[in-house]
Amino acid sequence: MRYQRIVVLTGAGISAESGLGTFRDEDGLWTKYDLEDVATPQGFARDPAFVHEFYNARRVNLRDAVPNAAHLALAELERRHPGRVLVVTQNVDDLHERAGSCNILHMHGELLKLRCESCGQVADWPGDLAIATPCPTCAVPGYVRPHVVWFGEMPFHMPKIELELAVCDLFVSIGTSGNVYPAAGFVAEVRRQGRAHTVELNLEPSEGASLFAEARLGPATTVVPAFVRELIEA
Ligand code: OAD
Repeated sequence: MRYQRIVVLTGAGISAESGLGTFRDEDGLWTKYDLEDVATPQGFARDPAFVHEFYNARRVNLRDAVPNAAHLALAELERRHPGRVLVVTQNVDDLHERAGSCNILHMHGELLKLRCESCGQVADWPGDLAIATPCPTCAVPGYVRPHVVWFGEMPFHMPKIELELAVCDLFVSIGTSGNVYPAAGFVAEVRRQGRAHTVELNLEPSEGASLFAEARLGPATTVVPAFVRELIEA
């Protein structure tokens, strides 16, 4: 076994072939919506009904989506690799879990959960949300929001992620454009430690492409299973 501790960072590109749109590609979500309106606390304060509608539509899309060969390959890697495999995802979908990944951190939250800004509890919520939806824990209406991270908010699990980046010996970035920090800075952080091999698997070179030691370009459903096969057989 060549690597003991593998950290895999995933972005919207890994779910693109499952039918979920990316953000910045041609036809991406941020070409149709202003992220200030639907992905900031200020946008939610201005027009919560509009923001709920946006995430309700994304939940409907997610219900129709199924994990693809790239999600399945990462789950197989976690099952078969004798070392540690951690998936850190920027995605709010649950396709990694449905593919069978267990060791996973959602740094930008989860679409199928809500959070109550009155009692602070997080709860599973697969259906629609509205302004008046009462919190399933404290029953107070008017305080629920999608359990996703908006611009200007702190991503989840950062201390644990920092720790894992510091000790990994392989860092793989899949399907992310490298536009959004802190995730976009992970490769530089890993390189500063100087121990880990760094690989980018993406349709095209990302913003931070030059920082990776190795790159495989192509659709995730092709390049991820091939890369995982190599790791398992090494
Ligand atoms: P982006 O939309 O910025 O980038 C998607 C990346 O996936 C691009 O580099 C594409 O080239 C690549 N891609 C597209 N199709 C692919 C395929 N079939 N196989 C492999 N790669 C493919 O999405 P993210 O980088 O995930 O955050 O965006 C990061 C964050 O910005 C998101 O988590 C979200 C967004 O605003 C928040 O909302 C907080």
